[in-house]
Amino acid sequence: MPEKKTEELTDSATYRKHAERAKADKPPSRASPIGTVARSRAPGLVSRSEMQRHILAQDENLVPGHFGTVYYKPVTVGSVELKLEPLQPSIGTLVHGIDLATDLDDPKVVTFLRELWLERRVIMFRDQNHLTRAQMVQFAKHFGEIGASHGEREHIPNSPAAVSAQIEAPGFPDMLLLSSDADVPHIAGGWHCDATWQPRPPMGSVLLCREAPPVGGDTCFCDCYSMWDGLSEATRQRVEHLAALHVGGVIHQMNGVTPQAVHPVARTHPETGRTTLYVQQGFVRRFAEGHDIPEDEEKALLLEMKMQQGRPENTCRFKWEDGSIAMWDNRAVLHSGSGDFWPHRRMMERLTILDFDESRRTPYYSPGNTEV
Ligand code: SIN
Repeated sequence: MPEKKTEELTDSATYRKHAERAKADKPPSRASPIGTVARSRAPGLVSRSEMQRHILAQDENLVPGHFGTVYYKPVTVGSVELKLEPLQPSIGTLVHGIDLATDLDDPKVVTFLRELWLERRVIMFRDQNHLTRAQMVQFAKHFGEIGASHGEREHIPNSPAAVSAQIEAPGFPDMLLLSSDADVPHIAGGWHCDATWQPRPPMGSVLLCREAPPVGGDTCFCDCYSMWDGLSEATRQRVEHLAALHVGGVIHQMNGVTPQAVHPVARTHPETGRTTLYVQQGFVRRFAEGHDIPEDEEKALLLEMKMQQGRPENTCRFKWEDGSIAMWDNRAVLHSGSGDFWPHRRMMERLTILDFDESRRTPYYSPGNTEV
């Protein structure tokens, strides 16, 4: 057992399964990225403890620091002087110079951040570990209604394998704690938007890093507008009016039922009016009933669409530090955590945000409507 463990870790089935594996000195399963990266970093070693020692020795003596040249745009909003650092030309801006516990009292700052978020799909902040959980909720409330752990309250996973069964935030049932340590590694890896297996998936998500690994564990974001634009004209025409079936995993089951939902393949962003590709590796299984596409072509089209995920020019990568926050627009970006940081600890807290305007919560496609 690790010496340092958060007080909220509970005795769940998932926790016990992982802990048994650790006790038996078996390395993390090679079926997960965590296990494959561990093998690549510790080739030839077979016991978990040896692997762990070998990897920790590689990561010894890392000191936190920033250096090098960073380009940024200085902007003053009300009395707040911000520095906006683009992480990639089209998506992702790291906003420096703000205290999320106090600076959003000025509505101009909220409006500025919301517009920046819509334009850049995901915005990030550093040095916010002073925020209490209540203050994190307060911050997220400026942008929408707080959802349950996976968005709308009709479906709250209660499977024994659910992430929330393993670790809880007392007093904050809507907050999802994503914890990972040497014994019980975890990562939400694989490209996805959050909970698209819900009929009304959450508009956005806010992720706060309480404890970052010294190396690895970055989260990557991929631009869904570019994914749509990157398809050939022929493919766009072929799939434009199709819908796809999104299916959750065992960890998303509620009362034993696996959630699923049907959504358009091309989705109109309800605030920008632009078209996104709403197909991703995480939850999309096949086209929804009623299409006349032959099976081979269906597979090829789905593969072609999923191949748009993670193209370097559509993607930004965020390196977490203790107290970093990312807030992303689930209607405009996919994300994927990197399961490469084992055996280091990584402790994250996540909230989902629902659109204040309920009429915009269900995904739709409105062709020809390019600007709202
Ligand atoms: C998530 O998928 O919501 C979390 C991603 C991460 O932990 O990097």
